[in-house]
Amino acid sequence: MKMDIFPLLFRVALLAVSVLGQTTDVEELARMNADFATRLYSKIASSSDDNVAVSTLGATLALATLAAGAGGASRTELLQGIGVASMEKEGEPERIQTLLKQLRVTTAQIQATALFVKQDVKANDTFSNQVKQFYNADVQNVNYANGELAKESIDNYVRTKTGEKVKDVVKNVDPKSIAMLISATFFTGYWLKPFNITFTQEDRFFVNKYNIVQVPMMLHSGKYYLAYDPILKVGILKLPCEDGIAMLVLLPDEDVDYTHVDESMTGEVFRGWVAKLKKTKLEVQLPRFSLKQSNSLSVSLPSLGIREIFGSTADLSGISSDESLKLSEVVQKVTMEVDENGGSVSDASTNLFTSPLPPRLTFNRPFIFIVYHEATKSILYIGRVVDPTKN
Ligand SMILES: *[C@@H]1O[C@H](CO)[C@@H](O)[C@H](O)[C@H]1NC(C)=O
Ligand SMILES: *[C@@H]1O[C@H](CO)[C@@H](O)[C@H](O)[C@H]1NC(C)=O
Repeated sequence: MKMDIFPLLFRVALLAVSVLGQTTDVEELARMNADFATRLYSKIASSSDDNVAVSTLGATLALATLAAGAGGASRTELLQGIGVASMEKEGEPERIQTLLKQLRVTTAQIQATALFVKQDVKANDTFSNQVKQFYNADVQNVNYANGELAKESIDNYVRTKTGEKVKDVVKNVDPKSIAMLISATFFTGYWLKPFNITFTQEDRFFVNKYNIVQVPMMLHSGKYYLAYDPILKVGILKLPCEDGIAMLVLLPDEDVDYTHVDESMTGEVFRGWVAKLKKTKLEVQLPRFSLKQSNSLSVSLPSLGIREIFGSTADLSGISSDESLKLSEVVQKVTMEVDENGGSVSDASTNLFTSPLPPRLTFNRPFIFIVYHEATKSILYIGRVVDPTKN
């Protein structure tokens, strides 16, 4: 009997190694992709003075969907752009797709990705099957000639896929469109430590020197992970959510312009923040907010090195052999609801009236957030709340 246990142990050990190996590959992919995430956010944020919400994972999956049907420089630029090109391996044609699929499945976000092509363009079945398998993306024909109808078809698709969470993805559809890639995501923070609605009160939020608004300010007291970045002069708080997801909320010092943090953020800076977090007792005040943002990626991507796919020499031969096929637009719609809600377990350690009172951290001026998957450090969303009373 004794003899038999060793081969078994050995096999268990092998299994453990291969599981670990797999995790490392996804982590590596997430690490490579983090720079795309921060650059995309910085780019979109720099073109606006308002609230921003970017689904960086949604954009990654949308571009990977395109890459599956692109060739030549179009494909290379896409894979380099999302940071995963160096993950390719000879003889493993589906390696990147498989890793991205693992990332998509582990992070379990509500999202819809679809390529809508003009009615008379027949998409290649191999492509359609592949993007369905790896990215849960759909390829559908739509009658662009009738702009209203096309808009309705796209809207219906997204509503169905997101359980009515995301609506009005496109404002209007150009009847001359040939192919549009739509990516829609919905995030709601189900906090592990919910805010108790009893303590939510109207309070002031300082949008800027001249503009103060009243917002429902939530309150929770408990143990939190907190850090401070003395170089960028920004406080970093972690709010853990269900499903292994967490939100970092970044509060720049009062004398620091949030655009400075927007511009300085990189994958490495993000990982540095996470590594510095330390547990501490704290009272946190965070305004409720709800964001609905549309991002035209065809506007932002060229400056991140993804150009070819939008040009007249784009190679989309894997999507269809139809010569007229051309990518008209890549649109992303992000919907986020951040309120008191959390899982059903309330934090028993919470007692607001124990003394001495812990220090209080109040998000009452513009702040930035990063939603990420803790185990892989994969960035899912990055955004900025300048005025919580707006979408
Ligand atoms: C579809 O794509 C596959 C792989 O790229 C290719 O082998 C096949 O010939 C294409 N089919 C058509 C009908 O173009
Ligand atoms: C919220 O706080 C009130 C007042 O302290 C308390 O009675 C109630 O049980 C709390 N609710 C939850 C869900 O913890």
